[in-house]
Amino acid sequence: MASSTLICDTEPWKDLKEHLEEIKKTHLRDLMNDADRCKAMMVEFDGMLLDFSRQRATVNTLDKLFKLAEAAHLREKISRMFNGEHINSTENRSVLHVALRASKDAVIQSDGRNVVPDVWQVLDKIRDFSERVRSDSWVGATGKALTEVIAIGIGGSFLGPLFVHTALQTDPEALICARGRQLRFLANVDPVDVAKNITGLNPETTLVVVVSKTFTTAETMLNARTLREWISSALGPQAVAKHMVAVSTNLTLVEKFGIDPNNAFAFWDWVGGRYSVCSAVGVLPLSLQYGFSVVEKFLKGASSIDQHFYSAPFEKNIPVLLGLLSIWNVSFLGYPARVSMESNGKGVSIDGVLLPFEAGEIDFGEPGTNGQHSFYQLIHQGRVIPCDFIGVVKSQQPVYLKDEVVNNHDELMSNFFAQPDALAYGKTPEQLLNENVSPHLIPHKTFSGNRPSLSLLLPSLDAYNVGQLLALYEHRIAVEGFIWGINSFDQWGVELGKSLASQVRKQLHASRKKGEPVKGFNFSTTTMLTRYLEASAD
Ligand code: F6P
Repeated sequence: MASSTLICDTEPWKDLKEHLEEIKKTHLRDLMNDADRCKAMMVEFDGMLLDFSRQRATVNTLDKLFKLAEAAHLREKISRMFNGEHINSTENRSVLHVALRASKDAVIQSDGRNVVPDVWQVLDKIRDFSERVRSDSWVGATGKALTEVIAIGIGGSFLGPLFVHTALQTDPEALICARGRQLRFLANVDPVDVAKNITGLNPETTLVVVVSKTFTTAETMLNARTLREWISSALGPQAVAKHMVAVSTNLTLVEKFGIDPNNAFAFWDWVGGRYSVCSAVGVLPLSLQYGFSVVEKFLKGASSIDQHFYSAPFEKNIPVLLGLLSIWNVSFLGYPARVSMESNGKGVSIDGVLLPFEAGEIDFGEPGTNGQHSFYQLIHQGRVIPCDFIGVVKSQQPVYLKDEVVNNHDELMSNFFAQPDALAYGKTPEQLLNENVSPHLIPHKTFSGNRPSLSLLLPSLDAYNVGQLLALYEHRIAVEGFIWGINSFDQWGVELGKSLASQVRKQLHASRKKGEPVKGFNFSTTTMLTRYLEASAD
């Protein structure tokens, strides 16, 4: 395929379009009866079991998807990523988050340089710093231990670390390591969030980590100035050196802000913001909370999936299978949502050609059975939304009640096993009649079924498995992008809103400082801004 050919113009794509007509005639109820098909749609790797038999696909569909992968040069693109080529062409950068979790002896080149020693230099610095803070050899300005950490950051400098923290918060080993410590995240610039973060905290025992790749993000920098003020007004300006550290690629701006560059933890432009949790972005705050050795396990889990993604044949390659099935659901079956990550969702190909198909899905989800009591009505009888069910064999916090054989975790997992079948099989009017359901209720109680899902069963949710999960979903995004022919590693789509906000910020400044009237905006925005300025002046 020539680089400027759109994937939808290739033979495998057209073939899949034709094949769709066959699949439309099938129902998962029947497909699930074919044990050979179901067996072919299960894959195991490093403790995890993926069952994708409830996808609206046959073995034939998979073969055709593998041909599509070939037409998109998927294998070559994966290798180009791991080899540090500048596959993020719009920013002229390598995409090397896999180097962040590579073992010390690995060699991964970017621009002719092995980046692994740089990665490990920062990891070792984090290990040392976090150990000093955790063992009270690095203390606050008044000599008190720094037991609370506020990580300020937004977007990729927040969501990944929050995800891992949420998972580890209940892991027994991590919990023991976190005893007596607190980790909070401040992302939003709403003053209410600042208040929520500092409520109950004492500046004397708080360490603030400012996490920003660019060190220019408006929300993060304002929050950082706010907390700098909180610290210095309580403890004096000299306290900032002991109470504030930074994670950034821009060490010059870190120093300008007033943080000692020795207390800054670097990462590099070949780490995309949305792919940065395995850099100091996540590793520093998480190591302060849980200790470096727990976080190292998380990195090892991610690395295990990286190696699998790089080398496993596509038929057994979990991220590749996930990505191909997403393409099938979004671009062929036309299902627009899924109960994932960015930065897909582009309007043009990597060569700038307008895409005649959707390249990205809307993701949402909920833990446990919460979704069951809210949006599951929609996914069972309303819109068709392919679901990923992720379950674990061993609970992190098992509860065994006397006299109850089916324990709490079994109860949770009963739903994990039941929901995919409910979606796949549905319930027919005939079944309802046999159950003596009154005729007027039959349309309401009928479930069409034939709704795709996949199930991923992990041994548990410790740091290692969390790392695996993270890498799996990162690579799924890459696979989708490689096949759609888009750049999954840039995100120009978020820039317009930011620059308009900066125009508004300038206007607010001019109006407040010099009384200048609102100008240069449309009628609606002018009216709203004027009202805001007038009403907030009192
Ligand atoms: O707005 C998107 C984005 O640029 C993300 O890529 C990034 O994770 C986030 O903003 C925060 O950026 P930074 O880490 O530079 O503060």
